Amino acid sequence: MPASIEIVLTDITTLAVDAIVNAANNTLLGGGGVDGAIHRAAGPLLLQECTTLHGCETGDAKITQGYKLPARHVIHTVGPVWHGGGKGEAELLKSSYHRCFEVAQQHGIKSIAFPAISAGVYGYPMHEAAAIALSSVNPAVEMNPQLERIIFALFSMEARQIYLETAKRAGITCK
Ligand code: AR6
Repeated sequence: MPASIEIVLTDITTLAVDAIVNAANNTLLGGGGVDGAIHRAAGPLLLQECTTLHGCETGDAKITQGYKLPARHVIHTVGPVWHGGGKGEAELLKSSYHRCFEVAQQHGIKSIAFPAISAGVYGYPMHEAAAIALSSVNPAVEMNPQLERIIFALFSMEARQIYLETAKRAGITCK
């Protein structure tokens, strides 16, 4: 059965999936936005495990347990800060999604939820971030036929609408 693609308005910390993705920073030691929400919901053991990871390069991803979250794992990635688009931002954001899917495959993850990586504090324009997020889906499904659910967990109706329109334009069927 093909993987289902879901575009939903929700707090990602509430999702009972194999892994949720965290839009973290290079230290992996917590922050604001979705990062802060994930650490608050997971409890202090998440930070304890993160301290053993020695940070994360922009465009890379590392996995931890989910602790008190309903999700079994957290895949921490670091998206690029938006500097206008001429500093390799698109390649780095693509790399973040690609590495999340790679790490997911290595850990047998079948259901994964993403926030809009880089599209908050890091300033990536939502339309462009959505296009990159959605363009990561087909290669991921081809690479990993075990994937069952890919969820884009958006935090505003506006962001969800942008994802839905972008998916439609790209010919991606989603729920
Ligand atoms: N569930 C889903 N999406 C959320 C949630 C949530 N609970 N909370 C926020 N968002 P951001 P970034 C959305 O700023 O741009 C942190 O301090 C939010 O509305 O969390 O990659 C890190 O430590 C936005 O659309 O991540 C880094 O320093 C999206 O998640 C920095 O922010 C991403 O916003 C990373 O910035």
